[in-house]
Amino acid sequence: MDNMYSVILILLLCLKASSVCSYRGPGGVRSGDNNNNGDLVTNLPGQPPVDFQHYAGYVTVNETNGRALFYWFYEAITKPQDKPLVLWLNGGPGCSSVGYGATQEIGPFLVDTDGENLKFNNFSWNKEANMLFLESPVGVGFSYSNTTSEYAQLGDDFTANDTYTFLHNWFLKFPSYRTRTFYIAGESYAGKYIPELAELIHDRNKDPSLHIDLKGILLGNPETSDAEDWSGMVDYAWSHAVISDETYQTIKASCDFYSSDPWSNKSCTQGVDEVLKQYNEIDIYSLYTSVCFASTARSNYQLMQTVMHPSFKMMPRIMGGYDPCLDNYAKTFYNRPDVQKALHASDGHNMRNWSICNHSIFKGWAQSKPSVIPIYRKLISAGLRIWVYSGDTDGRVPVLSTRYSLSSLRLPITKRWRPWYHQKEASGWYQEYEGLTFATFRGAGHAVPCFKPSNSLAFFSSFLRGESPPSTK
Ligand SMILES: *[C@@H]1O[C@H](CO)[C@@H](O)[C@H](O)[C@H]1NC(C)=O
Ligand SMILES: *[C@@H]1O[C@H](CO)[C@@H](O)[C@H](O)[C@H]1NC(C)=O
Ligand SMILES: *[C@@H]1O[C@H](CO)[C@@H](O)[C@H](O)[C@H]1NC(C)=O
Ligand SMILES: *[C@@H]1O[C@H](CO)[C@@H](O)[C@H](O)[C@H]1NC(C)=O
Ligand SMILES: *[C@@H]1O[C@H](CO)[C@@H](O)[C@H](O)[C@H]1NC(C)=O
Ligand SMILES: *[C@@H]1O[C@H](CO)[C@@H](O)[C@H](O)[C@H]1NC(C)=O
Ligand SMILES: *[C@@H]1O[C@H](CO)[C@@H](O)[C@H](O)[C@H]1NC(C)=O
Repeated sequence: MDNMYSVILILLLCLKASSVCSYRGPGGVRSGDNNNNGDLVTNLPGQPPVDFQHYAGYVTVNETNGRALFYWFYEAITKPQDKPLVLWLNGGPGCSSVGYGATQEIGPFLVDTDGENLKFNNFSWNKEANMLFLESPVGVGFSYSNTTSEYAQLGDDFTANDTYTFLHNWFLKFPSYRTRTFYIAGESYAGKYIPELAELIHDRNKDPSLHIDLKGILLGNPETSDAEDWSGMVDYAWSHAVISDETYQTIKASCDFYSSDPWSNKSCTQGVDEVLKQYNEIDIYSLYTSVCFASTARSNYQLMQTVMHPSFKMMPRIMGGYDPCLDNYAKTFYNRPDVQKALHASDGHNMRNWSICNHSIFKGWAQSKPSVIPIYRKLISAGLRIWVYSGDTDGRVPVLSTRYSLSSLRLPITKRWRPWYHQKEASGWYQEYEGLTFATFRGAGHAVPCFKPSNSLAFFSSFLRGESPPSTK
């Protein structure tokens, strides 16, 4: 096997929605100290009527080179002034937090299957917090750079730097949020972005003029440490009957995921290829769902490549992306002139080309931290609240990968493994450590809130309160 791996993955997500209502802004009275009137979204096509305000548009992060990041911000449904600010990030790298997080998972408006309308999400996380969705880095979704040569430099550090600048410049538009309690949440490859950004905020907070009131981070099925992630993925595939004993033994014997280049061993790459080949038969992001498979979307499966960058000593990567069913509807919706205009993404004439995941960014990713475990240690010492959750039917960043990564921290246990409950059922299990809470979601795939929206909202609420998830029925 050469340096280039080629593996096809299936992406999936199911969402049914319907709603036909056009919303006109209430023109309500604002507190007056915000500098964002141009970004208020007032006539988004197909939007159900709501009582809260939401804003969308660009924030310039580098004037010299012309870099601008696109955000969509939903104030909390009730009492936004009393609720924290939460930044949500999706991964990829190269995937859109608007396309996934906001409109398929936890935002108030989910894109309908006709690509024409939005449906109100009764389990939107803006019931509990002011929710900020960012398309990052440049080149993702509506975000762009006028200096196209910069796309070749994109990596973890570049992304963290721009996201950090984004926050400060966003606070200039929304000064009333400048000192608000702040959290960062997200999933998948954001498992790298989130600790990296949290570390940057923590370091820069030494300068009081730059202080951001970061209180904690929340990570779902997060990529954390390449060696543990690969090891867990293989063990999970074997223990969930996706691969044979023989393939498993080959991998066990020939792959040293902790070495600097496990892929130089041909038996190892062949074994791992076999894992991915078997996953190509099902949905790696949700092993047991077949809802979308039954739909007509099957013919729309996107083919994805994993790529390997020998020069950067990176593991071959599989995009943390998703879905055939829904992504096309989102693409249709966000490429409508009236939608782009309403969201201040374009003037409605000179259109931006929106896609849910930008494959060339994924392929060209120039720098990735092999492990963010050392950053976890630092953030734990800093006293940040760190909660990690895992949908236990995901084969992409499976619960085993997360457990291997977290156990490498060797944290003292403060509350032993036990179920947590939602609506009188065990929703999963959790264990608390000094400085970290780990929880599972029983029967949820990679993007947990898609599968367990009500449970996820309840869990998010526990996280924000800093209280253990409910451990009695
Ligand atoms: C803008 O970006 C370029 C390239 O990343 C960098 O060299 C420069 O310092 C940045 N300018 C500012 C003001 O941050
Ligand atoms: C990028 O270039 C366009 C066209 O010149 C300009 O309108 C826009 O303001 C630039 N973006 C940034 C962030 O400077
Ligand atoms: C929305 O959720 C609330 C509880 O948060 C519930 O009372 C209400 O019935 C739900 N509405 C719909 C349409 O599901
Ligand atoms: C990120 O910012 C730091 C501090 O300004 C700088 O030293 C570093 O070169 C930047 N990294 C990238 C990739 O832009
Ligand atoms: C791969 O690993 C196995 C087990 O360690 C070893 O026997 C074999 O020689 C290795 N192959 C190569 C090409 O390095
Ligand atoms: C939009 O981007 C996609 C790939 O990212 C490309 O295939 C398509 O041709 C582009 N469309 C336009 C109108 O530029
Ligand atoms: C995807 O990223 C590439 C840079 O890797 C950029 O040139 C392109 O415009 C982006 N495509 C879309 C549809 O935004």
